[in-house]
Amino acid sequence: MTDALFVLRPWESPEVTSWGRLPMNAVDRRERAVSLDGRWRFQLLPSPEREPGPGWSWAELPGSWALDVAEDPPQYTNVRMPWPEFPPGSPPANPTGVYERDVDIPADWAGRRIVLQVGAAESVLLVQVDGRPAGVSKDSHLAAEFDLSGLVRPGHRATVRLTVVKWSDASHIEDQDQWWLGGITRPVLLYTTDPLYLADVTVRARRDGELRVDCRVRAASGTATGALPAGWYVGGQLTGPGLDGLELSQDREFDRFNTEDDRVSDFLGEARMGTVVPGVRAWNAETPELYDLTVRLHRADGTVADTSHHRIGFRDVQIRGRDLLVNGERVYIRGVNRHDFHPLTGRTVSYEDMRADLLTLKRFGFNAVRTSHYPGDPALYDLTDELGFYVVDEADIESHDHAHEIADDPRYLNAFVDRVSRMVLRDKNHPSVIVWSLGNESDYGANHDAAAGWLRRHDPTRPVQYEGAAKLDWAATDDASDIACPMYAPIEDCVAHALSGEQTRPLIQCEYSHAMGNSNGTLADTWAAIEATPGLQGGFIWEFWDHGILQHVNDGRPAGRGGAGLYENGVAGPGLRWAYGGDFGETIHDGAFIADGVVFPDRTPKPVMFEHREIAAPVRLSVEGEGTWRVLRVHNRQHFRDLSWLAAEWEFAAADGGAWTLPARLPDVSPGDSAVIDRPEVPGGAGEVWLTLRVTTAADEPWAPRGTEVCLPQVRWYPAEEGEPVVGAEEDLGHIPPPETDDTGLLLHPLLVSPPVLSLWRAPTDNDVLGGMAERWRELALDRAVREPVAVERKGSTVRVRSRWATGAGVVEHEQAFTALVDGRVLVEETAVLPEELTDVARVGTVFETGPGLDRLAWYGQGPWESYPDRASGAPVGHHSAPVDQLFTPYLRPQESGGRHGVRHFTLSGDDHVLSVRLDGPRQVSVTRHRAEDLTAAAHHDELTPRPGCVVHIDAAHRGLGTASCGPDTSPEYLVTPGVHRWSWTLRAL
Ligand code: GAL
Ligand code: MG
Repeated sequence: MTDALFVLRPWESPEVTSWGRLPMNAVDRRERAVSLDGRWRFQLLPSPEREPGPGWSWAELPGSWALDVAEDPPQYTNVRMPWPEFPPGSPPANPTGVYERDVDIPADWAGRRIVLQVGAAESVLLVQVDGRPAGVSKDSHLAAEFDLSGLVRPGHRATVRLTVVKWSDASHIEDQDQWWLGGITRPVLLYTTDPLYLADVTVRARRDGELRVDCRVRAASGTATGALPAGWYVGGQLTGPGLDGLELSQDREFDRFNTEDDRVSDFLGEARMGTVVPGVRAWNAETPELYDLTVRLHRADGTVADTSHHRIGFRDVQIRGRDLLVNGERVYIRGVNRHDFHPLTGRTVSYEDMRADLLTLKRFGFNAVRTSHYPGDPALYDLTDELGFYVVDEADIESHDHAHEIADDPRYLNAFVDRVSRMVLRDKNHPSVIVWSLGNESDYGANHDAAAGWLRRHDPTRPVQYEGAAKLDWAATDDASDIACPMYAPIEDCVAHALSGEQTRPLIQCEYSHAMGNSNGTLADTWAAIEATPGLQGGFIWEFWDHGILQHVNDGRPAGRGGAGLYENGVAGPGLRWAYGGDFGETIHDGAFIADGVVFPDRTPKPVMFEHREIAAPVRLSVEGEGTWRVLRVHNRQHFRDLSWLAAEWEFAAADGGAWTLPARLPDVSPGDSAVIDRPEVPGGAGEVWLTLRVTTAADEPWAPRGTEVCLPQVRWYPAEEGEPVVGAEEDLGHIPPPETDDTGLLLHPLLVSPPVLSLWRAPTDNDVLGGMAERWRELALDRAVREPVAVERKGSTVRVRSRWATGAGVVEHEQAFTALVDGRVLVEETAVLPEELTDVARVGTVFETGPGLDRLAWYGQGPWESYPDRASGAPVGHHSAPVDQLFTPYLRPQESGGRHGVRHFTLSGDDHVLSVRLDGPRQVSVTRHRAEDLTAAAHHDELTPRPGCVVHIDAAHRGLGTASCGPDTSPEYLVTPGVHRWSWTLRAL
């Protein structure tokens, strides 16, 4: 385009971060603004050099055009840039969206200042009004404001054109692991102020009640000289818990330097208000007490020229030694990384959706959010303040592919400081923001130090962190990070560092426990280590969302806004799927690595959420003492709250089928303390008995209605009796013929369509694939090991069958003994001997398939949700049941799923039949509609055809899940070892 804005080609100049853009500030104008969201004229040009033609279509703002128009579909890359140009270059094919609309400027805005705010534009925004240049902005996840006072005429119509260039020098520092989507993804507003206006307000509110409000005042330069009119002053009012309109007035001491005889500025007004609020209620993530602050700017005659509203919280953040303290408490950071994401609208997320994200997190025990990897919408911070989250606010800087070059490239210096400072200027008044982050995965260079320098001077009240700085030496004291915030560090390394005596600063992982597919193994062990080790305080799970975009399978188009309601419980509806990298025909992409969240694309929680909820539970239960002297103790694991907001009841589960509930009364326990809880009467003699304290909210919480389940701490009250429910050959065999088998020794059973055979393979999880295990298992031929019958012997009521399974690392000898028991059961005793070379396989166990019609599973074991050996601390033991179709977890890329840990017995039932299985002890079991090979072959769910019967796995040993897709694998105790594996079970048809 020929306009001056375009001639200078700002998309190729990293030094140019903006032109004509107003300084960022913390005065919130949203409430009184005119929304320009909705329909805009739109056209997508192949590059910014092209002129828009006469043909316009329509686009809905805010939105990403990749989800609305076919020409420029979404593309997913992790580290690599999607095109080859080196920084600061961008490719010649550069999709450029032109948005245009007419705006009627109200007549009563005459004489006032008129400002346009564009919430977020990726990656360069060029603004024209009636064909005249208004400004340029980069920094895709923060708003850009432009003063239009001189460009529009009140009472007239103006044409606003927003041109968004998708690729630019800035793309190189916005190389985050996510979809590339161009567009204007946050609201567009127009607002007006008096020529005399509040340019910024900075609030400092401390836990002891001390409040300081610093105001910056300016006069519009377009209207006069920009000089401040004489006699202006500020005032304010504070309301909140126990405070009914406390008036604040200007601190005249401070003002001294700004009087007429002693002015420091003709055009910048600075004023301060201060007070000490008596009996203040401090803000923290558990009890997020907020106060309402109104700041007023008065003209000399007392009339109000401008106001600014703030919801503020009184709290302290501090690092003492190696502890990060909130209000003096060493709080645990139970965090998650949150991107902006929605399966229909990409990075456009509504207020309701942001709220729903946070409610979900709160209900599953999270208390912290890292805004990976850019600042969120302003509303997000209103919500984290209100609902109670500790926020690590992260600047929009990730230069992953060219990290080393850019960190010290002076051409990008301005961009680094600009992005960090703008974030801080906007978000500084939010109590929930406790730490600033300089960005992500951008190596470490002088540009970071420059940004950190600005930040530390401007806001000494909060620590700053940057993984790239601290990773060189966790114990350093002179880099750009006040916190050692590694990603995916093995917990052993963290513990060793904390014990080394070298630790100098808090250690809080900025990313850990990669939630890709069926994952998050060893989360409970990680937390046990954190809680046992002074110096460790937690971390942020990677990540909240699976970024699957809802897509029509037939034509590959994103469903866009039209897809509302076309998905449920994590599953895309008929004809649709959750797209990941490569599904839009991209040749350069990183596949399913985009699907690595603790919730599905529709925010349905994955099973790991229940694991996390229990790990983070405010209440824990322990048994102390022996025999009849045993007592139950309740621990309050919170930092600030007592237990009065919780209600509880006892639930019992006995191995013999007994299950009952009794009321419970939580004792009065202060935070961090414990107390004995009245013990319910538990009848003995029923074998194993488990006691669960079902804890719920006693009243409505801002994040959950009364009665919402909070946690389910459990203890075993009576252990299993000797021999229970173990089955063995000592059972009364009687003189009955042995079970029927075919010639090769395969069991023939009326309810089974596929007989029980050895199973050594699971459909590789994402961790198995990316950790290299799956490839090794394939090399060992474990995906295609076949049974070679060796011998079938019949003796008394037993058939003894031996078979061999050849693998790439020797032969697995497998023996099954089928015994007919008098009560009609078949006893199956199995032994598998894995050669020494066959280390670390996925599973050793039995698989069989039933015929159709057995559609409900009832089991005694861990549940009700999915659990695996290294992710089993959030699933209480009990009597559970569910339709078979609901047992399977629909991970985006089909993989091993649906397992239940610690199962002792289970029943599959339908209208005509019941199949009952008892195990020799707690085992890993799965019942699904899919064979491991079906899951292995499919890339998406729509490719799977559920089998009419059930595929049943009973595992003698099942490998842990770990997190090897990005980070540590499972621990050695969860590996399947070579040698002898024995297991037995009974089968009965009713
Ligand atoms: C980290 C990175 C994240 C994401 C994650 C893997 O290295 O900071 O953005 O890529 O790994 O899913
Ligand atoms: Mg990255």
